[in-house]
Parts: sequence; C-alpha cells; structure tokens
Amino acid sequence: MTTAIMDKVEEAGAASDHLITVTVRVRRFNPEVSADVVWQDFQLPMDPKERVLDALHKIKWEQDGTLTFRRSCAHGICGSDAMRINGKNRLACKTLIKDLNPAKPITVEPIKGLTVLKDLVVDMDPFFQAYRDVMPFLVTTGNEPTRERLQSAEDRERFDDTTKCILCAACTSSCPVFWNDGQYFGPAAIVNAHRFIFDSRDEAGSQRLEILNDRDGVWRCRTTFNCTDACPRGIEVTKAIQEVKRALITRRY
Ligand code: SF4
Ligand code: FES
Repeated sequence: MTTAIMDKVEEAGAASDHLITVTVRVRRFNPEVSADVVWQDFQLPMDPKERVLDALHKIKWEQDGTLTFRRSCAHGICGSDAMRINGKNRLACKTLIKDLNPAKPITVEPIKGLTVLKDLVVDMDPFFQAYRDVMPFLVTTGNEPTRERLQSAEDRERFDDTTKCILCAACTSSCPVFWNDGQYFGPAAIVNAHRFIFDSRDEAGSQRLEILNDRDGVWRCRTTFNCTDACPRGIEVTKAIQEVKRALITRRY
C-alpha cells in the first residue's frame, strides 16, 4: 500500500473513532398513505460536529428515501430548511448535533401554523402571500434617475438589520398569534415592510403602513419575543415590529 493510501486509511479510522450513535425522531406524515401522523426513530452514526441536515441526508440516502424535507444551499442562506428541532425553530443546516444533547433522541418536526404537505414540508403559500402583500420592493415616482440614488450612511443604517432576512419563516411560525389565526401578516412580512418603510429612497411607506394598519396587521403582535428568539439571522424582529407600530402612530419614519 502506498503512503498516501495508508494516510487515507488512517484518516478514515481516526474519523470513525469519534462517531456517536444518535437517535433522530422524525414526525412523519404522508397523506397518500394515511391521515395519521407517526413519529419514527432512526439510529445514525454521526460526528457530533455534523449538522441536523447531515443526519436528515443520511436518513434519506441510506435508510428511507421517502423522507421529505426542503433544503437548498445547506449554508444558512436560502432559508428553505427551517424546522422545529427539539421543540425550537431552527435551520437544520446551522444546527450542530453536539449542541442538542445527542444522548437523548433529537426530535425533528415541521414548523407550526402552516399546513403540512408531507413529513417536514409545509405549504408556504400563505407565508409568501403576506410577504407579497406588503410590497417588498422599492417604489419611486418621477423619471428614472440618470445616476445612482444616493443615501447617507445614517439613512442606510436605519433598516440595515431587516435587510438580513432570508424568508425562512422561523419567526412567523413561532408566533402564537399566527398559530391561532393564519390571517395575521406575521413577523416576517412586517420585517420586510420595515426594510422599505425606513428606506429614505422609497416613496410608498405610507401605503405599506396602511396595509399593516389592518385588523390582521401589526396591532395583532403581542410582543412575546418568540420571533426574535427564533430568527437564525439574529434580526431584532420584535424591535422592527415596534418601530412599525410607532411609525403608524407618529407618521414619522
Ligand atoms: S426575520 Fe429572521 S426568522 Fe423571520 S423570516 Fe426573516 S430570517 Fe427568518
Ligand atoms: S439549506 Fe439553505 S438555509 Fe439551510
């Protein structure tokens, strides 16, 4: 055996040394098979430094190809793999096994408040409809500018936090108001309205505020801070909602 091959064999041995056996308990639902929900346990050899997304991949690729979940980037950017892990909304691709007390079963279930289509996949249509309703794009009047629209650093800073949203729905689906009434716009839509209301270049702030003045708008927020706790991007979601409420009262933004 060449030295390079021996090194590889040794590396593989060393890597398998610190594998632990983890039980991943997944909430399964397949309406084509049964109307009942079942919890299913999977035993997996995992490196504690691997992520829950790696565990789901191992299940799907090696044990049960029918397991259904969304993911795309695998690096906390696309927002498609928000799920409830050990009872808390998180991104599977940003959650390490070692941070979850792997001595006990790790529970994985879909986010709440949206209809489950299959296993960990929920119907995101109501979530994206609320997002579309707040007009998440720059609105301006007048002629097209011949040069870049300038903005001071201070003006840019006012909405910096809310630009970080990746539309994962972890906030909206952790909100008890949204669980009870799916008509509520929800934190994510308000965060994305905030991003434009406080942008000095935008001219539709009052229109967006009126949309959120609706009975299903910002006044439904009960300031429970679940949304801020759930946000994987560290956005101060509740603060953004409070700023929108204040702008509605003072009409200053
Ligand atoms: S505010 Fe945070 S939790 Fe809510 S959708 Fe955006 S990134 Fe996800
Ligand atoms: S897979 Fe894209 S954020 Fe997790």
